Amino acid sequence: MHVLITGGAGFIGSHLAAHHLAAGDQVYVVDNLSTGTLANLEAFRGHPAFRFTEADILHWSGLGQAVAWADRIYHMAAVVGVKKVLEDPVAVIATNMTGTERILRAIHSGGWNPEVIIASTSEVYGFNEKNAFAETDHIVLPSAGRLRWTYAVTKLADEFLAFSYARKYGLHVVVVRLFNTIGPNQVGHYGMVVPSFVRQAVRNEPLTVYGDGEQTRSFCDVRDTVVALDRLAGCPEAWGEVVNVGNDQEISIRGLAELIVQRARSNSSLEFISYADAYGEEFEDVTHRRPQLNKLKALTGFTPEWTLPDTLDDLIERARAKNLRVA
Ligand SMILES: NC(=O)c1ccc[n+]([C@@H]2O[C@H](COP(=O)([O-])OP(=O)(O)OC[C@H]3O[C@@H](n4cnc5c(N)ncnc54)[C@H](O)[C@@H]3O)[C@@H](O)[C@H]2O)c1
Repeated sequence: MHVLITGGAGFIGSHLAAHHLAAGDQVYVVDNLSTGTLANLEAFRGHPAFRFTEADILHWSGLGQAVAWADRIYHMAAVVGVKKVLEDPVAVIATNMTGTERILRAIHSGGWNPEVIIASTSEVYGFNEKNAFAETDHIVLPSAGRLRWTYAVTKLADEFLAFSYARKYGLHVVVVRLFNTIGPNQVGHYGMVVPSFVRQAVRNEPLTVYGDGEQTRSFCDVRDTVVALDRLAGCPEAWGEVVNVGNDQEISIRGLAELIVQRARSNSSLEFISYADAYGEEFEDVTHRRPQLNKLKALTGFTPEWTLPDTLDDLIERARAKNLRVA
């Protein structure tokens, strides 16, 4: 199979590349290296089935040809992370909406019909009060133009673009609402909690918890996520649908910090700082975010294999090895 991955030098994209190369597929990654890195692709350098182009999906002249080549497209390129979204909401809108529209239009206008995954996010559920979100639940977003929600709004627009192309032109598109994903290659500098906590714990520095730490999240190992995405893309019943992808085990951020300190046998304390100090007055967080996974299971039979402690142990070991290399 020929697999095109936009944003393939990023966290999830690089795991998709590894997954498909291991299965014997041809993999083509395009990425502008804005948050992704060549280091994430280092393991594939020189692999005869791997190809990389550094380009911005908003302007890439090779898009038409790449789309024609592909049997499968994972559209992962996006501006991601709370910090980036608050710093440059204009860039978020351009990349996340125009980029997706460009790809879907290139597929349709070329007359191609590859399997396509469009990456959306659990953020679209916004302030919905339910304790676990199903795909049919209402989207609850604030109305007063609060820029913190730019990311969610662009991803929601992507969803409707995908549904429109699927409905009107019969494209084989699946929208995946990804819940918090963790694993190797994820970095902490754009506001991702697990890599930040792990780095702090292995250095015996205080773990910085935003807010009171009672907010809960559900973390899925990226090595499980890529299996779910692969199955969904190849599942005709999923085409034209939106599907939650994640792990439904829930933990508070305070509980996560304590677990990481314990697994790392660290001397770190917890340090609580307000959202306003972390991200400015504009920021508001949601209290919980847990997926209902019935639809994913019914379509693909998928259940996650990695437990949170197993993933944390793996990340702690990798962070220790990296610290030793740096020292
Ligand atoms: N990691 C998560 O927990 C999570 C949760 C929900 C949704 N998602 C979605 O999954 C996708 C991948 O996220 P990730 O965590 O791997 O983030 P990431 O930042 O590591 O990956 C995004 C990649 O896209 C690239 N990129 C950005 N703009 C581009 C452009 N204009 N042209 C080409 N490449 C561009 C970046 O360089 C990066 O490599 C994103 O669409 C994100 O919205 C991720």
